[in-house]
Amino acid sequence: MIYRPFLSCIFLSIPSVIAQLSLPSTPWQPPDASAGSQASVQAIVPNAQWATLLGNSLYFYEAQRSGHLPATKRVSWRNDSAVNDGADVNLDLSGGYYDAGDYIKATFPLTFTLMSICWGATDFGRGYDLANQTEYLDDMLRWGLDWLMKAHPSSTTLYVQVADANLDNAYWGGDVNLPTDRPSYQINNTATGTDAAAGAAAAFAACSALYSSRSLGSSFSSPASLQNSTYAATLLAHAQQLYSFALSGPQQTYQTAVPEAGTAYASSSFGDELAIAALFLAWAGNSSDAYADAQRWYAQYGLAGSDAVFNWDSKTPGVHVLFSQLALAEPSLAGNLSGWQAESERYFDNILNSQETTKGIRRGLLWYPGDSDDASLNPALNAAMLMTRYAQIATTPAKKSAYLSFAQNQVDYVLGNNPMSAPYVVGSNPNSPSNPHSAMASGGNDIGQIDTSPPQEAYVLYGAVVGGPDKKDRFYNIRSDWPETEVALDYNAPMLTLAAMHVLNDTSDPYYTRLQAGAYEQSKPSGQPCDPAFPCHSGLSSGAKIAIGVVVGLVGAVLLGLAGYYAYQVRKRRQFRY
Ligand SMILES: *[C@@H]1O[C@H](CO)[C@@H](O)[C@H](O)[C@H]1NC(C)=O
Ligand SMILES: *[C@@H]1O[C@H](CO)[C@@H](O)[C@H](O)[C@H]1NC(C)=O
Ligand SMILES: *[C@@H]1O[C@H](CO)[C@@H](O)[C@H](O)[C@H]1NC(C)=O
Ligand SMILES: *[C@@H]1O[C@H](CO)[C@@H](O)[C@H](O)[C@H]1NC(C)=O
Ligand SMILES: *[C@@H]1O[C@H](CO)[C@@H](O)[C@H](O)[C@H]1NC(C)=O
Ligand SMILES: *[C@@H]1O[C@H](CO)[C@@H](O)[C@H](O)[C@H]1NC(C)=O
Ligand SMILES: *[C@@H]1O[C@H](CO)[C@@H](O)[C@H](O)[C@H]1NC(C)=O
Repeated sequence: MIYRPFLSCIFLSIPSVIAQLSLPSTPWQPPDASAGSQASVQAIVPNAQWATLLGNSLYFYEAQRSGHLPATKRVSWRNDSAVNDGADVNLDLSGGYYDAGDYIKATFPLTFTLMSICWGATDFGRGYDLANQTEYLDDMLRWGLDWLMKAHPSSTTLYVQVADANLDNAYWGGDVNLPTDRPSYQINNTATGTDAAAGAAAAFAACSALYSSRSLGSSFSSPASLQNSTYAATLLAHAQQLYSFALSGPQQTYQTAVPEAGTAYASSSFGDELAIAALFLAWAGNSSDAYADAQRWYAQYGLAGSDAVFNWDSKTPGVHVLFSQLALAEPSLAGNLSGWQAESERYFDNILNSQETTKGIRRGLLWYPGDSDDASLNPALNAAMLMTRYAQIATTPAKKSAYLSFAQNQVDYVLGNNPMSAPYVVGSNPNSPSNPHSAMASGGNDIGQIDTSPPQEAYVLYGAVVGGPDKKDRFYNIRSDWPETEVALDYNAPMLTLAAMHVLNDTSDPYYTRLQAGAYEQSKPSGQPCDPAFPCHSGLSSGAKIAIGVVVGLVGAVLLGLAGYYAYQVRKRRQFRY
């Protein structure tokens, strides 16, 4: 049965752009990076270093804000920008977040980010409370959700992007003189986008559940204290409308309707978005019809048995975990606990078994060939996040401890336990990257001289998780090297959830307090990276290599009957970055 909410009686309220929980009268500000080299003297919960990391991770999103910035703004070097977004379609589409190191607003990865953060704040929400960051979480979520409501001005219209990615990539500079030609791209009932609509439904539903303080049944935690039933109901209404919209008209990926969106964030499928949207709707609305839909999409789109990465384009691994959580938390709604646990554990055990081992010890960064070749930290952090969440309901103590220790190893790697001695979060420690690929933070305006103009990045983009090192653990810290140094909304999302868990459950510091001053400078590789931003000299262009990789991949996929797998491996997202 297809879940059809009562659309006719829903009136979407006018979004507010003001934080509802009041922000502290003395704003919380990230401390200087040197604070990240001070080991804590007391082993207590909450650990102050993890609380700071959580605060910094949220602060990054504030730096990414678009539109009129409120009086409560904490990022002194940011200005109002793109305040006329939507004028081309007679709408106010100002606000929201810039996607990455550039100035497009991209709905599909934004909705993944919001879904991820709301889910994490449901599971480990007490971490935000203990760190005194719940007001900033509320502020961060509303800045995104309120914009998403504006981007959903009628039941069958959703704006999926503002600004053209190719034009935008031709601009490098601050936020004051952005190019004014910023077209707004929509999906609607004649140009549908099943994944984008369902992805937005999933974000609204996950956040509605958070704002209604629905616990996912964990005994150790509870949702962050930002309950607001009015806001939760508004979010749920948007979720229901968007889900119905996703099911109406031809089912297709959104870049089929809006080719411009394919430049940065082409989606590979929509079955995973339908399934996760239906599940979050089932949860937020306690709806057995939506739950039945989720089971149906799971079967219809063959989501079982997937070993895919978890990211903005590929949500299936989260579906298994959420099915398991619902079966435990609300047995009257959901069932098959052991079936979903078996599927989740198959997926996680395959990750564990895929890890290279040295003397039986798993080490190093989890690597997905293809997917990890740029923004290598993202797949690893997302896996660590899902395992940390799932470990709480694993079937055996041995599995629980294997998942938690794997996740811990990945997080330690990201926070400095790596051959570079680099914690890959900007401004967290003196060894953190100093050249994140961010036009607004760089202070430069010469696209031909990104690395040298100015020599030192103008502003510290506190809390930003950068792309990450290459397969040989090398990190070059070069501003124009977007595969390694770019920042993005979705890169930070798992770090919030992981940091919140550590705030509430970890007395020891993040790894980086152990690093010596100058450790990264000593480990830093010489020479240049070898990636799409710095093509290296092997006789083949990087485009030719990608093409060969795809052909080899396709042959393998056909032979193994894994068609579709390689679609995930070709990340179109950053082929158009510098
Ligand atoms: C949170 O605020 C309380 C009350 O002001 C304070 O005692 C505590 O130290 C703060 N916690 C953190 C981690 O900053
Ligand atoms: C914001 O404006 C100020 C004052 O004009 C300028 O110094 C600063 O660089 C601007 N910020 C960005 C991100 O361009
Ligand atoms: C529907 O969306 C398509 C693709 O963005 C667009 O070309 C078309 O103008 C839209 N239709 C309406 C009525 O706005
Ligand atoms: C709850 O959210 C609504 C809608 O944003 C807002 O108007 C109201 O002030 C909020 N209430 C509280 C107690 O925060
Ligand atoms: C969800 O619905 C079921 C069945 O209608 C009911 O038993 C249960 O109490 C509901 N839970 C909540 C939280 O409303
Ligand atoms: C139970 O879970 C498994 C995943 O292990 C799934 O394939 C199966 O369809 C589920 N069965 C039902 C009745 O939902
Ligand atoms: C907290 O740590 C303990 C001991 O490692 C573990 O059993 C528990 O599951 C952890 N809780 C969370 C939320 O990770």
